Amino acid sequence: MKVIQVGIGGMGNAWLGAVQRSPQVEYAGFVEINPEIARAQAHAYSLDQSVIFASLPAALEQVDADAVINITPPQFHRELTVYALEAGLPVLQEKPLAGTLDEARAIAAAAEDTGVLCSVAQNYRYRPLTQTVKRVLERGELGAVAAVAAEFYKGPHFGGFREEMSHPLIIDMSIHHFDLMRFFLGGDAQTIHAVSWNPPWSWFAGDASAAVQISFANGAQASYAGSWCSQALETSWNANWRFECERGVLLARDDRVTVQRLLSVGEGPGALVNQHALPEDVPLIDMEREGQDYLLQEFYEAVTAGGQTATTAQDNIHTMELVFGIVRACDGGQPVKL
Ligand SMILES: NC(=O)c1ccc[n+]([C@@H]2O[C@H](COP(=O)([O-])OP(=O)(O)OC[C@H]3O[C@@H](n4cnc5c(N)ncnc54)[C@H](O)[C@@H]3O)[C@@H](O)[C@H]2O)c1
Repeated sequence: MKVIQVGIGGMGNAWLGAVQRSPQVEYAGFVEINPEIARAQAHAYSLDQSVIFASLPAALEQVDADAVINITPPQFHRELTVYALEAGLPVLQEKPLAGTLDEARAIAAAAEDTGVLCSVAQNYRYRPLTQTVKRVLERGELGAVAAVAAEFYKGPHFGGFREEMSHPLIIDMSIHHFDLMRFFLGGDAQTIHAVSWNPPWSWFAGDASAAVQISFANGAQASYAGSWCSQALETSWNANWRFECERGVLLARDDRVTVQRLLSVGEGPGALVNQHALPEDVPLIDMEREGQDYLLQEFYEAVTAGGQTATTAQDNIHTMELVFGIVRACDGGQPVKL
């Protein structure tokens, strides 16, 4: 399968690596609006400079491609992705689906109307930690999940669009964790309470910290606390998670998974306290491909077989509705019902 990658700086590096590692996918060309980045990346990755174009229409006129990989900042997603879909080319696109909910809906509608695949890179789903958590929950021995709590604290100095946008934590980062809540709980959000704030030392223009409570349609409760301006004791990028289940607790902390099972329920005199098994570390599962490599292979298989991926634009719109619902709850100071 031959692809055009749009945006080859920044996160484009991860995709250049994934495509170059893939035995099935190769490059037809590239689109990059910054000539210095184009030159530097051509040198770093031994790319053919004659197929690096300044716009997607120019690239589509000059080279034959089967699909487009869109790794531009969110404000360019709608224009580029809808252009490719309407040209009949499937798109594998970075999260967030778009810069605004309306733009995301326009992409999902274009994918639906054209019948062309648009797949969103929710790469956090395809990591050993998150796949292990999902597998333990699916095995069912811990019973139903009543509540999940996630916490995420980092202090990255990226520069660029994240430091200018409103709600950088929620829209650009925590979207991964909110999408993971949908993945882990197997359902969609219904009601949101949320507040956001910017610590006095923040280097972000928009709020870089938030606390969120979400009721899911299946009855599960999810709480989230996070900051992108934490000054110390950072968590993993995957966040720390605690699942309160009917027959035990699952922790995913510091990229390790631990389970403690309930053995018996304390009842009446002399047995007031529940009995538990010892906490047990769960080995992380081995994955043949992770992250971008997994997503690229999944996309390749869907495109060649005429199928779908797990995170199509039509599915991912529910993650976007959750994320932008959280933004509305923060900005409006009122609970939001989806
Ligand atoms: N999934 C993840 O873990 C993850 C991590 C980082 C970034 N991202 C996402 O990747 C996307 C890009 O982020 P980034 O950090 O790479 O941004 P960036 O600004 O660092 O890089 C974007 C690149 O695209 C180029 N570009 C911008 N507009 C273009 C256009 N219209 N046509 C062609 N090229 C264009 C820029 O010149 C630059 O090379 C965002 O949606 C971001 O949220 C995802």
